[in-house]
Amino acid sequence: MKGSARSDKPNYLCQQCGHRSPKWMGFCPQCRASDALVETAPVRRTSTPSSDIDVVHATAVNTQVRDRSATGIGELDRVLGGGLVPGVAILVGGEPGIGKSTLLLQAADSIALSSGPVLIATAEESTHQVQMRARRVGVKSDDVLIASIHDVDEIIDLVGEQRASAVIVDSIQTVSSAEITGSAGGVAQVRDSAARLIAFAKKSGTPVVLVGHVTKDGSIAGPRTLEHMVDVVLYLEGESDIGFRFLRSIKNRYGSVNEVGVFDMTSEGLVEVPDPSGVLVAHRDQSASGSVLFPTIEGKRPMVVEIQALVVPTDAPQPRRSVTGLVPARVHQVLGVLERHAGIPLRSMEVYVSVMGGVRVTEPASDLPVALAVASAQSGVPLGQTASWGELGLTGSVRPASRPAVRSAEFTRIVDGKVIAPEHGYDRLSAALAAVDGLVQR
Ligand code: TYD
Ligand code: MG
Repeated sequence: MKGSARSDKPNYLCQQCGHRSPKWMGFCPQCRASDALVETAPVRRTSTPSSDIDVVHATAVNTQVRDRSATGIGELDRVLGGGLVPGVAILVGGEPGIGKSTLLLQAADSIALSSGPVLIATAEESTHQVQMRARRVGVKSDDVLIASIHDVDEIIDLVGEQRASAVIVDSIQTVSSAEITGSAGGVAQVRDSAARLIAFAKKSGTPVVLVGHVTKDGSIAGPRTLEHMVDVVLYLEGESDIGFRFLRSIKNRYGSVNEVGVFDMTSEGLVEVPDPSGVLVAHRDQSASGSVLFPTIEGKRPMVVEIQALVVPTDAPQPRRSVTGLVPARVHQVLGVLERHAGIPLRSMEVYVSVMGGVRVTEPASDLPVALAVASAQSGVPLGQTASWGELGLTGSVRPASRPAVRSAEFTRIVDGKVIAPEHGYDRLSAALAAVDGLVQR
């Protein structure tokens, strides 16, 4: 074969962007990072004898229904789309300290109770540290096996020896393979180690969970390419000082994406929060000004969150705008529309807007509740048990949000209150503000 000769030469892999170069250079020709090229094993193209290749008819019905096994942790199963599919490769990302190891230890316990041994390959912590955590979260199964190993091939061998029903590799950045040059944590090692574990999952049918630390810029350290290699990508997120943790699926070959599982980090590990709306609303002081309820939708899930605003006079030429849990550009736009179309003076005001409980909202439907919360903070008029949604146009119009009936139902499930939304006739900002007496001074 013509192409295979070329692939037997050594090649050089950029540790920053993953670009492969046939010759060494002082900088990467793709991302320009200096000294980033590292010699790596050639890409082997082994040809498969044609008799080994499975050829199927597109019209043939696949009668083999992929049986899913629930992990037993409801909020995790929700995000996975029901549970673990045989041979699934899952990447769990998140910032250091967010609770990845805790969540997966609890999942390992639950899976071990129903399906047999689960191996946790801990390349990052000692087995003793993991045992301490196991005691803290109250691991019940005797089948949660912990081994401190760094070598990918040893991990794979051990899974076979122990007949593990699933394996958790914590973390992919700290494992390596003797056959690959390049240091642990480098792109070559991370990617090739992951590739081997994924191939093992597919061949053996054993679910493989890879833990990946997320760097400051939000990517799983080193290669974003890991996201393309696995079947499921989950991110664990939350504000570190607040208890809530959100497990989001951003890719799922076996289920829907943008699902969210909610947990609370307690002193005994993560506890599921099946009713986040109830918890978030229970903490709210409804007599305070600058607060409104917003039934948001995350994936399939409606969740009533509280949006708070604070407005403080200032002499600063560039008044401060602080936004937590919302898209800052959207909030700045809402402030502009409030000023221009509702005459609410914000030019000499510091404005703080935040979503409570460590929730992060990205949908434009948060515009109208943000506008109401700011107007309430500015006027000192509380909104009480009011929910709102709708996207604010630059002209002061309010556009409908997706699935208003679902939002409305979730709100009325927990609160008996008022709704200010375009579907209820509030299709202009002026009308929405006029719905509450005293919100706009004349
Ligand atoms: P951990 O699972 O180690 O995070 P990661 O693997 O993502 O780096 O969790 C780390 C934090 O969670 C740590 O700050 C302590 C806290 N924690 C609890 O609050 N309760 C617990 O039961 C456990 C095990 C950890
Ligand atoms: Mg960890």
